[in-house]
Amino acid sequence: MQVPTHDARGVAVLAGLGGWLPPRIVDNDELSRHLDTSDEWIRTRTGIGQRHVVDPGMSTVDMAVEAGRRALHSAGSRDVDALVLATATPDQICPASAPQVASRLGLGNIAAFDVNAVCSGFVYALATAAGLISAGAACSVLMVGADAFTTLLNPKDRGTVPIFGDGAGAVVLRAGEPDELGAMGPFDLHSDGDLAELLIVPAGGAKQKTSDNPEDHYFSMQGPAVFRHATARMAESSRTVMERAGWTVSDVDRFIGHQANIRILHATAKQLGLPADSLVVNIERTGNTSAASIPLAMVDAVNDGTLQAGDRVLVSAFGAGLTWGATALRWPDVTPG
Ligand code: ACO
Repeated sequence: MQVPTHDARGVAVLAGLGGWLPPRIVDNDELSRHLDTSDEWIRTRTGIGQRHVVDPGMSTVDMAVEAGRRALHSAGSRDVDALVLATATPDQICPASAPQVASRLGLGNIAAFDVNAVCSGFVYALATAAGLISAGAACSVLMVGADAFTTLLNPKDRGTVPIFGDGAGAVVLRAGEPDELGAMGPFDLHSDGDLAELLIVPAGGAKQKTSDNPEDHYFSMQGPAVFRHATARMAESSRTVMERAGWTVSDVDRFIGHQANIRILHATAKQLGLPADSLVVNIERTGNTSAASIPLAMVDAVNDGTLQAGDRVLVSAFGAGLTWGATALRWPDVTPG
């Protein structure tokens, strides 16, 4: 990383936003032709109507480049010192994918690395990017959340295939002042590795490179247990962030939770005492896009006018690991690129 020549220390401010979804759409009826499920079951139990899916040959890096380009355009500047990529589906196990994204975007020899916190990846990587800025190590950071999660799924597993989709979302953070719109507020991040087995791809890593059981190479999920943990942890972390920000529930204009399941979002809002109409929801058209879900929800909410400059926004995510976290900000005047 090039150490900035002037004192870059400051609060990270959200200055650009972009998202990208692969063109191929798979709706619930199409899934039901190959799986023992139905549009009615998927909509009622998850709120999902369709998902975007990568075609063979399209990768996480491809999607991250598209979202990153749009976020840089939205920020009005390509001048970034670092790129942080949140992903659980890098193009290769080694090396990280972020340098390839930086290179494809023509960003030069900037610092670039991956953060893997699965569906909490956006909040974790946002905290990492904000930390680079507040440490004075970067003036501006491109942070991308991208996952080709469908590449991890067993096509015969009706417990996971209806839930996940592919996509990428990105933000640009720059050094600024704490009282500016877009200034990142407090972060709260947690994990519980004792519960790693609840959401796991058992084989393919250093512990078990290959397995005779092909299912070990697919993502497995204990849905009902995950549901309970997701709701409790997102609510808990959101409460911590509100307290640190000095907000009460009535101060929150919008709650942007990880788009895992509409029932999880409603249950979390209920635990927090937030009205249902404060929820930002786009899961119907995207499914769960893992690290991309929150920035993609932000893009849709700005475009449809749900999210407006000055809104007090609470952001919370939960994912495999287990990992979870939250943050808060007053929404800036950004137009998605
Ligand atoms: N179509 C039709 N029926 C189904 C399907 C399906 N796709 N999947 C399960 N069923 C059936 C089950 O077999 C079961 O039938 P039974 O009662 O006869 O045994 C019934 O529906 C209920 O099954 P549950 O698994 O208990 O259903 P639940 O209401 O819990 O919904 C779901 C399942 C949607 C997976 C839910 O548990 C959930 O959303 N969990 C959280 C998932 C999540 O958030 N994952 C992402 C985490 S983030 C990350 O990092 C990856």
